[in-house]
Amino acid sequence: MMILLTGGAGYIGSHVCVALLDAGLDVVAIDNLSNSNKASLERVQSICGRSLVFRHADVRDEEAIYEILRDCGVTAVIHLAGLKAVGDSNVRPMTYYENNVLGTMRLVSAMKRANVKTLVFSSSATVYGPPRYLPVDEKHPLGPTNPYGRTKCFIEEILRDIYRSDDDWRIGILRYFNPVGAHESGLVGEDPLGVPNNLLPFVAQVAIGQRDKLSIWGGDYDTPDGTGIRDFIHVVDLASGHLSALRHLTRPGVLTVNLGTGNGSSVLEVIRAFEAVSGRSIPYEIGERRAGDVAICYADPTFAREALGWRSARSLQQMCADHWRWQLKNPNGYRDTPVLKVQGRSRSLASRR
Ligand code: NAD
Ligand code: UFG
Repeated sequence: MMILLTGGAGYIGSHVCVALLDAGLDVVAIDNLSNSNKASLERVQSICGRSLVFRHADVRDEEAIYEILRDCGVTAVIHLAGLKAVGDSNVRPMTYYENNVLGTMRLVSAMKRANVKTLVFSSSATVYGPPRYLPVDEKHPLGPTNPYGRTKCFIEEILRDIYRSDDDWRIGILRYFNPVGAHESGLVGEDPLGVPNNLLPFVAQVAIGQRDKLSIWGGDYDTPDGTGIRDFIHVVDLASGHLSALRHLTRPGVLTVNLGTGNGSSVLEVIRAFEAVSGRSIPYEIGERRAGDVAICYADPTFAREALGWRSARSLQQMCADHWRWQLKNPNGYRDTPVLKVQGRSRSLASRR
């Protein structure tokens, strides 16, 4: 079974790739490398001892995607390609609509032409907006508060309309909570460009001495220690959720599922866990609240268990330990990886070794 993985070179994509290859599936990964480095996919292959096909392509290029679907004999698509920075989406909303929404529309058109009608899409807990109740289940009203979140909402609606118009489609919509951590090998992980927006990459860079201290955005929330609470989920658990979704899309329909642990951890709890596994101290200061942040958000993962037979397995300690191993082994992310000479667009990465 050949899977097309869009955004395959990215943080979550590289881990999904490992899960797919380890499960014996074949993968063609596409990425425009706007926020990634294809060294990640070289490393995926050394982890799995199997090769994959990489194409440097953009999901907005319908013809290129159609040709890949047809030529590679793809039977299902996992669609992760997208822009994801909330703050940036406020500054450049049209870029986000064009990349995320139009990109998905073109991808789906190519799929329809190639008669490939199984799709797993990465949505986000951000579609819920500020929680009205906790834990957040899939019936929670939607109300994203930024353009990035709205692209996810619009895409979800588009996918539901596609199914309504043609009930051959099998669509899984996965709403991720807060993915963190890295593969236990320390070979693939999150490699943010510039100043990290998210908590764990920032904490890891403080621990290794690349940044002086962490600013905690708000210490006066209505939570036990005053700092924000999130549902951090190990990226390897998240990746296995995609495999479960693929396996459970046995009937036409649209399945919308939270991928979270069901447990909330505060910023201070994350700092303490990271200090414990790394043996380093994480200096911090408490600053102002970040605009748009909520006090507490965590998932109700019940439906994921019922519908996909999936549950997260890894603890916060494991998330921090794996994230730290990745940071220690790759202080500059993938930037120190030797550049490979690429001679063709469609060659297997493994064949270039
Ligand atoms: P990432 O930036 O590491 O990966 C996204 C990949 O998509 C990158 O490799 C990028 O180069 C590629 N890409 C972007 N636009 C493209 C296009 N038009 N054509 C081809 N490739 C393109 O981000 P990630 O954390 O791995 O996120 C993957 C998906 O999961 C995204 O859709 C994101 O919105 C979603 N998501 C992420 C989080 C998170 O906290 N990381 C949370 C919820 C949802
Ligand atoms: N935080 C800090 N300091 C930092 C970074 C984060 O105190 O330097 C705090 C935040 O205020 C928040 C918590 O750490 O309380 C988590 O923040 P993240 O930025 O890591 O995660 P968010 O929950 O804000 O957002 C993430 C993704 C979004 C996604 C959302 C829900 O960035 O894209 O999870 O899935 F929509």
